[in-house]
This record gives sequence, structure tokens and C-alpha cells, in this order.
Amino acid sequence: FKIPEIHNEPMKSYPPGSEDRANLKAALNELKSSAPFEIPVYVNGEEIRTGQIVEQRIPSDHKTVLAKYHEADSSIVEKAIKGALAVKPIWETYPFSDRSAIFLKAADLAAGKYRYKLLAATMLGQGKNTWQAEIDSAAELIDFWRFNCKYAAEIYQQQPPKNAPGVWNRVEYRPLEGFVYAISPFNFTAIGGNLPSAPALMGNVILWKPSPNAALSNWIIMEILREAGLPDGVIQFIPGPAQEITDQILKSPDFASLHFTGSTFVFKKLWKEIGNNIDIYKSYPRIVGETGGKNFHVIHESASVKNAVNQTIRGAFEYQGQKCSACSRAYVPDSLWDNFRENLLSELSKIKVGPMDEFDNFVGPVIHAASFDKIKGYIEWAKSDADSQIIAGGTYDDSKGYFVNPTVIVTKNPKSRTMCEEIFGPVLTIYVYKASEYEQILDLANETSPYALTGSIFAKDRAAIILGESKLRHASGNFYINDKSTGAIVGQQPFGGSRSSGTNDKAGSPALLYRFTSMRTIKENF
Ligand code: SER
Repeated sequence: FKIPEIHNEPMKSYPPGSEDRANLKAALNELKSSAPFEIPVYVNGEEIRTGQIVEQRIPSDHKTVLAKYHEADSSIVEKAIKGALAVKPIWETYPFSDRSAIFLKAADLAAGKYRYKLLAATMLGQGKNTWQAEIDSAAELIDFWRFNCKYAAEIYQQQPPKNAPGVWNRVEYRPLEGFVYAISPFNFTAIGGNLPSAPALMGNVILWKPSPNAALSNWIIMEILREAGLPDGVIQFIPGPAQEITDQILKSPDFASLHFTGSTFVFKKLWKEIGNNIDIYKSYPRIVGETGGKNFHVIHESASVKNAVNQTIRGAFEYQGQKCSACSRAYVPDSLWDNFRENLLSELSKIKVGPMDEFDNFVGPVIHAASFDKIKGYIEWAKSDADSQIIAGGTYDDSKGYFVNPTVIVTKNPKSRTMCEEIFGPVLTIYVYKASEYEQILDLANETSPYALTGSIFAKDRAAIILGESKLRHASGNFYINDKSTGAIVGQQPFGGSRSSGTNDKAGSPALLYRFTSMRTIKENF
């Protein structure tokens, strides 16, 4: 069968005086006046209040508590595993049309009834401006739900091309045997939605541990899925102490897959833990992860400076550099440098920094104190480093919220700390190279960091583009030409990286969904 025709969700722009702006303002006011929200654990269709409370605070106003969530404990985790496994035989034999109908309905709810509420929770809770929240909790979340249905329908239709006379060969796309464990990050509400939903659509059952810093938006996703008709127990929402919960889950013989987005360090740690437990499991677990990045912009001397500057500012500073795809190192040829620098500083001087519920701020707070301190540490290091010069920003203030001004470091050392290490904040490091050494700079960009998530080249010259595309072949999973390193659109640019950036299973593509299926080949003789 065919699912309804799928399009990318059109984005709203919330201009002053518009009905959309008024609706969003009302949702923001409603959230602020009703905060703190109480978020339960949600297992087998039951809201459980354990009394073990953790607060989610507003990063632009860290004295204010947005939500209080109840933490799952070991008895709840046990109940969640049992409940998920009990519902599994029913869920996996649901016709695909019914499973997809639930996610298509969820997409419509997120596009309509819940749009402003989700946006407000993402803006206040995760510190996104309106545009960034719209890209995330509206467009990307909705697109994930809809396009996954389209891709799954295509997968289910794929069959072996040949049958011998008297033989019918067919394949069945079974869900994994056991349950999937989804651990989602703070920085994208949409990823919070996709990590449990993609495996669920393929007939799996999921234990979902949301990020403490996205608890409210992620709980709203859970509410949407309930309202859309997701059967109890298919996705078990279990916020809680990461280490304890994870240790317990990874000791279950029925653990079948990890679906993770977060730091490289944690992912490697989990991989090792899974390796140590390998004899316990009934099947080899599928490990799917999207982790860190140190994403590059390489500018060739034939590039448009205006475009390269605009895209670099957007890639480096939108959402305060907290996208795993954010540009954090740039290579600029000396022949363009004066022009590039002047444009960059002039554009940066127009950027407003402040809370996200004030509509014209471009840069908001970073997510929490630990992140603020880490970024501050890099800035202070650059101030003391003889090869580094800070040409913009370099200032920060956490008296009310965790604000760091967009910071640009120019370094004489192309392998300096801030050129190599992931900072996850609004800090860009630039290395100015000799324009005649473009080829060498491509090699350098390729070997500078252990990551390979995203990267861009800027050039008008076709030979320079071809050379960049070839030399940087393995340097990123998403490669952009004359565009910023961020902003992959579901259904248009499948997203993911390799090396230390992840397993490159491409969110927003059939490749991801295949990972949550286990094929059975059936040969029948007539
Ligand atoms: N998909 C996002 C981007 O491309 C990052 O997760 O920016």
C-alpha cells in the first residue's frame, strides 16, 4: 500500500503582529505562569510519581524552574522492560498501516494543536530562538515522523528480484528480538522524538531515557504519541539517573539495540559496557549512535566572501554553536582575509544576545553551568595562548543566564586546541592560510580532528570544488558546497557522520530504519 503523499512541513515565520506570533506568545506566557510542570515517569500507560525529583531550569534565567521530573528507579526500569516485552508480540504484528497511521497522526498533532506548546518548551527549556525552535520542534520533528513512514513503506516493499520455477522467495522485515534503548540529547527536540519513534515504527518496543535538559519538550512528545494512539508500553518514558538506569538496562539479556545521540565519550563508554556484557545478550545488539563533531568550513579564494561570512556566522553561532553539526573551525585564504574579517566583524556587531522569549535575539544562553564553564575554559585558554588572538567576543556572563558572546579566535597554529577539540558553544577558530596552498589545507582539514560529521567548502571555481570533494571524502558524513555545515532537512539531506562522530546510519533516511529490522528470508517450494 501507499502512505499519503509526504511533504516537508512548511515553516512559520512569526512576524510581529501576526496571529502565529500572538499564539506563540500566549504559549510562552502559559508555560511561564504554570511552571514548574510536574513530569511523571510513564510506563505501561501509567503515570508514576516516584517522589525522586530533578529540576529542569530555564538556561536564560537559571533561578527559574521550568519543570520537575520524577526519576525512574530500578524497580520501574524492571517493570518497563517486562511491560515492553509483554506488549511486543501485539505491537510487532500490528499491520504497518496502523503503526504508520499513529506516527502520521502524531505529526499532524505536532503541526497543529501542539505546535506552539512544543515551540515554547523548546525555546524556554533548551534556549532556542523562535526560528531555531521552529526548525527543530516543528519542522524536523514532523518531517521525521512523516518521512520515516514513507521510507518504511518502501523498505517493506523491497523483495528479492528472482524466483526459480516453482519457488517463491520472499523476505520479511522483522523487528529486533528484544527491546531498543534510546538515549536522547538536549539540543534537538526532534531527535528526542526520532530516537524512540524510528524503531517503534519498525515494530520495536523502546525504553526511552530523555535528556534532563529537554525533559519538558520530550514529555510533550510523549503526550502527543499517547494522543495519537500509541499502545501502552511500546515507548516507556523513563527519565532518571543515567548511569544507574543504563547499567541496569545493559544487563538485560533482551537488550537488542542502543539508539543514541550525545557525546563521543559517553557513546564509547556504552559501547565498551555492551562489549563487556556481550555473553549475556540473546542477540548481538545493534549499536546506532550520532556523537560529536569538529566541523569545518574551508574557503577557497574563488568563493563569494559575503556568502562565506554569512554561512559561517550561521553555522557557528545559530543555537549558540550547540548543534553537533556546528561549524567550529574555518580556513580562510590570505587573499580574502581582510575582506572576510571586515565583513565578519561588521555582521557580528549586529547580533543580539539575550533570552529567547524576546523575539529578536539571535544568540541565547548555553544549556547549563557545566557547559558554560567548559566554554569559558576554552576562551580563557585562548587568551593565554601565544598563537591565538580573540578578534570578537571572548566575554561571558552567567549572573542570570548562561550567556557567552559569539567568540572568534584567529590562530597561527592550525592544530591548536580550539581547532581540534569539540567545544559545543559559540566559539569559532579561524586559520588563515596561503591562498596558493589550498590543496595542503584540504589535507590538513581532513587530518586535524578525529571527527567526521559535517563540513563545507566555499568556492566558485569548479576545479577547487572537485578537489575539495575528493580530498575531504571521508572528513564528513554531510558535505556542503557553498552552504553552512548545519541545517540538514529530513527528506532532503540524510544526516550523520563517521569516524568519532557516529555510526553514520543517517537519520532521515531508510538506512536508519534498516538498523531496527532483522530480515528473515523465506523460500517456499510449490
Ligand atoms: N541535523 C542537524 C543539522 O544538520 C543537527 O543535528 O544541523
